[in-house]
Amino acid sequence: MEEIYIIYWSQTGNTQTMAEAIGKGVEKAGKTAQVLSVEDAALDVLKQAPCFALGCPAMGAEVLEEEEMEPFVSEVEKFAEGKTIALFGSYGWGDGEWMRDWEERMANVGAVIWHGEGLICCEEPDEDMLMECEKLGEELGGL
Ligand SMILES: Cc1cc2nc3c(=O)[nH]c(=O)nc-3n(C[C@H](O)[C@H](O)[C@H](O)COP(=O)(O)O)c2cc1C
Repeated sequence: MEEIYIIYWSQTGNTQTMAEAIGKGVEKAGKTAQVLSVEDAALDVLKQAPCFALGCPAMGAEVLEEEEMEPFVSEVEKFAEGKTIALFGSYGWGDGEWMRDWEERMANVGAVIWHGEGLICCEEPDEDMLMECEKLGEELGGL
């Protein structure tokens, strides 16, 4: 597996910055990172991939973005069994409920959540968070 897909939705760029840092880590591990906005992502490539990363901020009232990410994740659920999925995203005023729900949802269809929980970041990622993202990418790239 030479390519690792990192698919995200982001409105103001915080989750996108996390995605790009994860991609940097993947490349450090010697793999090719495909960092794609969900509108440019194809489900077929994920079906073939044993592991990938999905990112989305908390939107609505503690939910995934509903126009693009939610339908995409609903499709991923259909083939997620046995796959290793890293979840990540930025949030604002909440306590991470959207991510806990997302983890539970993916675990319920038999996915293995990387590290057992999503990587979450309040608003804009700082240097420490970017390093965490990069580390996550490096680990994914090393799988
Ligand atoms: C319409 C809207 C709904 C939001 N809902 C939540 C929410 O339920 N809980 C929360 O913690 N933050 C919420 N936020 C804050 C965003 O999750 C936060 O600003 C995040 O950093 C945005 O990520 P992005 O830059 O990747 O778009 C919301 C923001 C917007 C614009």
